[in-house]
Amino acid sequence: TFTVEARKSGVTVEVKDGQTIASVLKAAGVDIDVSCEEGVCGTCLSDVLEGDPDHRGEYLTDEEKVAGDVILVCCSRSKSPKLVLDL
Ligand code: FES
Repeated sequence: TFTVEARKSGVTVEVKDGQTIASVLKAAGVDIDVSCEEGVCGTCLSDVLEGDPDHRGEYLTDEEKVAGDVILVCCSRSKSPKLVLDL
C-alpha cells in the first residue's frame, strides 16, 4: 500500500495491493486517460513531482526509468511511501 497525491486535482488516495494508481485516482474523480492498461502504449504517462516510482511495463526506456520523473499510472507502483503526481 502506498499513497498517491494528484497535486493539481487536490486528491490524495491510498493504492492497495491489487489496485492500480489509475483506477484509484479515476474513482476519486481525477481525469486520466488509459488505453492498453499494460504499460505498452504510453497513453497514461504522467509526470512525477515527488517520490520514487516502481516502474512496470515496456514503454519507458531504461534511462527514463532511472530518472524517475515520469510514470505509467496504469500499471506502475511506488517504492516510496508516497508519490506526488502532476495530475
Ligand atoms: Fe497504455 Fe498505461 S494505458 S501504458
